[in-house]
Amino acid sequence: MSTATSNREQRVHDLRSFVRRLEQDGELLRISRAVDPGAELAGVMAALERERKAFIFENVKGASYPLLGGTLNKLERFGLALGADPASFGDAEFDQLLEQAKANPLEPVEVSAGPSQSVVLQGDDIDLYSLPVPKFFELDSGRFITAAIGITRHPESGIYNVGVYRTLLIGRDRCVINASSMSDLRQHYLAWEASGQPMPIALAIGVDPAMLTAAACKLPPDSCEFRVGGALQGAPIELVRCVSNDLLVPAQAEFIIEGTVDFGERVQNLLGEFAGQYGPENAPATQVTAITHRPDAMFYSIMAGRNPEHNTLGNVAVYGVQRSIDGAIREAVPEAKRIHAFLEPGLGTLAHVVISIDKTDDDQPQDIIRRAFAGGGHIFPVSMITKRIIVVDDDIDVTKMDDVQWAIWNRAATERKFMVIPDIKSWELERAAKEGQLSVRIGIDATMDLADVDKLVRPIVPGADQIRLEDYVDPPGGKKSAA
Ligand SMILES: Cc1cc2nc3c(=O)[nH]c(=O)nc-3n(C[C@H](O)[C@H](O)[C@H](O)COP(=O)(O)O)c2cc1C
Repeated sequence: MSTATSNREQRVHDLRSFVRRLEQDGELLRISRAVDPGAELAGVMAALERERKAFIFENVKGASYPLLGGTLNKLERFGLALGADPASFGDAEFDQLLEQAKANPLEPVEVSAGPSQSVVLQGDDIDLYSLPVPKFFELDSGRFITAAIGITRHPESGIYNVGVYRTLLIGRDRCVINASSMSDLRQHYLAWEASGQPMPIALAIGVDPAMLTAAACKLPPDSCEFRVGGALQGAPIELVRCVSNDLLVPAQAEFIIEGTVDFGERVQNLLGEFAGQYGPENAPATQVTAITHRPDAMFYSIMAGRNPEHNTLGNVAVYGVQRSIDGAIREAVPEAKRIHAFLEPGLGTLAHVVISIDKTDDDQPQDIIRRAFAGGGHIFPVSMITKRIIVVDDDIDVTKMDDVQWAIWNRAATERKFMVIPDIKSWELERAAKEGQLSVRIGIDATMDLADVDKLVRPIVPGADQIRLEDYVDPPGGKKSAA
């Protein structure tokens, strides 16, 4: 990591410049009316999310800072923030930009001072309840910070990990930073606990969009999200040393919460999750040792649950999971023509996969379904993260679900075409799974039985996809000339 003084003139290098841009574009709404941090705040946030607006609550009751949110609740805003063309920025463009950044990481720089440490609060001045932290859902355990990036270092390798981890407030100077079993933070917790040393941890809130996006990426444990953040931003991420521990944290953030993990207190907690269910978690408590912030700091919050910003950011990890499933199935099923793996919050937390084949015998699809579920994958085994695998003939477009549905409901007439595979070890986020995290998997053979091929052919008009209506329809007030 090189050392430099802070000197940058970049496009979006902090959250504030992005917020100014959104406000100029009429994309940001201000709420000056006093709002209660309980159901009232969550209700208004959810309504603003439905409008896909960014927002600032200037007066959250009991809080000393404004609450900002919704800046990334549309995909095109990522395009705007990351220097791409917002008008044509979709999932494919986003996925590609992330892959480029991962392949060309940019080392962060350490700076001697930064705005995130303009105000330093320690000792009795620490009060997490002075932050406008919402309680989102009825049965949530309490108030949750949802847009913090958690920063830790592995005790042996020294490699930094950064991820978005929901954090429950349990006291003026105590919180619980959650880490799912697949997260690198969980591995850091385990390694520090085993080492017997105190574990330093920091949360940065209100980081620039590139850094927040990088934190949401699922990277291998030996890669560092600061480097991907720099690549996405087009300039190195600036880091400053914490005031109460040795960690480096973003110099341009709005807030930094510094702490030490207390493995002596584990806290069971509950929050409404991205797929629209409650998710129980259990994590060690953190003793907060300092809060630092900008002079006129804005707190950032992401509306929890099945809501737009949570899901656009969640997609950052989803792209990688889809790639991993695709790669594993391609290896397990070399005869696959096309494979489409997708995760959508509306279909739960698990993936669905469509595989097209040029079928040679009627047992082949079931065999393919079994082999595909048995595939590996660098993030998860396929069976753990995939709920349903559908095999279709090669005339079906695997990316068009109405085409795939048509095949399922028009080409399958025997029970052997619908496979129910019981007792599969599932991902913990499949909340419906039973004892031992066991759940069912579904395979559907939506191919034509070979004996029926003649009667199940789809009616097509030859050459229809080449027709251009403008070559035929008369223009207003005139007649099309003969070809
Ligand atoms: C809004 C939001 C909240 C999240 N909350 C959690 C969480 O509480 N625990 C967790 O392990 N992952 C959570 N994630 C997912 C991780 O940030 C994401 O999977 C990341 O890739 C994990 O990185 P890691 O493997 O380096 O730990 C959340 C993601 C988003 C976008």
